[in-house]
Amino acid sequence: MFISKKNPQAEENTDKGLSPDFGYLSPQSCYLDSACQTLRPQAVIDAETEYYLQYNACGGRVKYKWGTMVDTKVQEARKLLLTLSGKREKEYCVAFTLNTTYGINLVLHQLQVGEFSRIVTSEIEHNSVNLPSITWAKRQNAERLVLPREEDGSLRYSPSDLERSVVLINSMSNIDGRTPQNLKQLAEDTHAKGGILLLDAAQGFAHDVERLCDTDFDAAFGSGHKMYGPSIGFIVIKRSLLDRLDPFFIGGGTVTDVEKDTYSLLREGEEAHAVLEAGLQNWGGILGLGAAVTWLGQQEERNEQEKSLTETLFHGLQKNSRMHLLNRVPAPIVSFHVDGIDAHQLALYLSEQDIMCRSGYFCCHSYLQHQLKLPPLLRVSLGLYNTPAHIEKFLGSLKTILTTL
Ligand SMILES: Cc1ncc(COP(=O)(O)O)c(C=O)c1O
Repeated sequence: MFISKKNPQAEENTDKGLSPDFGYLSPQSCYLDSACQTLRPQAVIDAETEYYLQYNACGGRVKYKWGTMVDTKVQEARKLLLTLSGKREKEYCVAFTLNTTYGINLVLHQLQVGEFSRIVTSEIEHNSVNLPSITWAKRQNAERLVLPREEDGSLRYSPSDLERSVVLINSMSNIDGRTPQNLKQLAEDTHAKGGILLLDAAQGFAHDVERLCDTDFDAAFGSGHKMYGPSIGFIVIKRSLLDRLDPFFIGGGTVTDVEKDTYSLLREGEEAHAVLEAGLQNWGGILGLGAAVTWLGQQEERNEQEKSLTETLFHGLQKNSRMHLLNRVPAPIVSFHVDGIDAHQLALYLSEQDIMCRSGYFCCHSYLQHQLKLPPLLRVSLGLYNTPAHIEKFLGSLKTILTTL
């Protein structure tokens, strides 16, 4: 299914409208599952491979040359993520984690006991938000408020809901790409009530980073694998919040000194992020993520193309009367179910045509299965490697399947 970079067909593929950065992808493959994980551009694969082949050392500890190279590049990756989020080093720092889920748990469960009286979340959250918010409320003996989201993605709240609250919501839904239009106001209102705003930005970092730049969040959580990078997570966190955490998930790399029964944590200055990075890190992954952010910054044209593909996809799907689209407006993530066809079966038929889409509830069971009582859905999610030919192929194959069944 994949073609090596060295294969002459890689060049041929670019003639078929595929970006040379994904020249390894065979033209018949139609990958439409970026909301789970994106494909990786060659620059990211090269950055990670280069680390393994040329300076495979540990960062943050060693004095030899390879280690210093790792440190420089890791530092660069932190800076790139801060710039991408539109935040200043003076106010925020970046820590690396396993993924968005891990980052959310790490920060949430290390908040000081009793500092907040409630957790506020929304009904269209991924289980990565839902489950930690349930366990946090139980462990802290605090209230948990699940608020509705408007069709335009805004959180429906009144300021009194936010009193001393941890507000934890997504900045883009993985069901239908909805984004909270009132996010900026939510940040202001949350802070005015003595609360903090934590953002599940797993989708937001790939598709709607401007909203993150404009929002005074306390922490935002992302996954490299959903933004063209390796499988790795990261947290962009306010230094003021980091200082207030009660870290207990600690170990090598998080301390300045340890005696028989005591320890001092690394909590200040340039290394403050270390308190969230216990143990040896995924150095190759961090360097690959740095390369992904650099690559993302060069994709203006592909971003425009993605916007245009969202329109084609949305309007193409609307044409079929058996189709029940969850989206109200075009977005890079679209979910639907079709009368008379099970979504899993549909995904299998599409797969026979080399079209890769997700089926099910996408880790949003609480909302889709139990609240809306929907059957399993089919989800199509776009990435910067998708071309008009992919959408044409998908819509054409879907039409054929629907006419046959
Ligand atoms: C909105 C959203 N939040 C959180 C997650 C969890 O991400 P990860 O599995 O990388 O932790 C996902 C993954 O699909 C997601 O789409």
